[in-house]
Amino acid sequence: MSDWISFYDFKHSVIYVNARHRDVHYRTIAQDIRAYVPSPAAQVLDYGCGEASSADLVAAACGHLTLVEAAPNVRASLTARYAGNSRISVLTPDEAAARPAGSFDLIVMHSVAQYLSQAELDRQLAIFRVLLKPDGQLIVGDVVPPKLAAPAAALTLLRVGAANGFFWAAVGGLIRIFLSDYFRLKKTHGLSHYTQAAMLERLTCAGFAAKRAARNIGHNQWRMTFLAQPR
Ligand SMILES: C[S@@+](CC[C@H](N)C(=O)[O-])C[C@H]1O[C@@H](n2cnc3c(N)ncnc32)[C@H](O)[C@@H]1O
Repeated sequence: MSDWISFYDFKHSVIYVNARHRDVHYRTIAQDIRAYVPSPAAQVLDYGCGEASSADLVAAACGHLTLVEAAPNVRASLTARYAGNSRISVLTPDEAAARPAGSFDLIVMHSVAQYLSQAELDRQLAIFRVLLKPDGQLIVGDVVPPKLAAPAAALTLLRVGAANGFFWAAVGGLIRIFLSDYFRLKKTHGLSHYTQAAMLERLTCAGFAAKRAARNIGHNQWRMTFLAQPR
């Protein structure tokens, strides 16, 4: 499913209708992730972080934030953006996987599981299991349930647009997304959807004790966030 990486490998992804949308999106996610940071010394990893334009908010609340992004252009722009912030480093997925066992107190993978096949997800969860400290926490957020995913995403975008002064840009953005490669890729490469039970099963098989969080990280409350601790 690596074509999804190419889809996201733009300086400004088509997924965000304008810079305001991107900034509101990433600020909300950063605030939500920050609430999960267990201590000011915590080592945090954000896997598939995307443009992460508010990562400094998370970094300010922890000891060190490692941003991991597979898309090379996005990674280059993250590296440039945070070059002056010694609390943030930017790694490829392979570099992150090569970090010593037990390196992280908190690992977050938000809005990425849908782009991985189930086998890829299982492999990634196994890597996270090794990288987490025994008392660490894994958060898998924005997991897309099988039903009504597209209408829920469209409605959420319109709501966020209306609340933040970019409603008409959101309408235009929906049309742009519709005309983009997104739906062609969805047909050819698929998107992975999980029920609550199915994601809990994947996490249990990977060696975690997991539960669904009361709220999803970010704006779309139709999607799900899971909290998992190594068993
Ligand atoms: C919707 S963005 C999520 C960005 C950010 N975490 C957020 O919540 O806004 C999806 C991310 O998944 C990454 N991605 C897609 N397919 C991937 C794969 N096979 N392996 C690793 N990352 C992947 C993309 O590079 C992109 O950064």
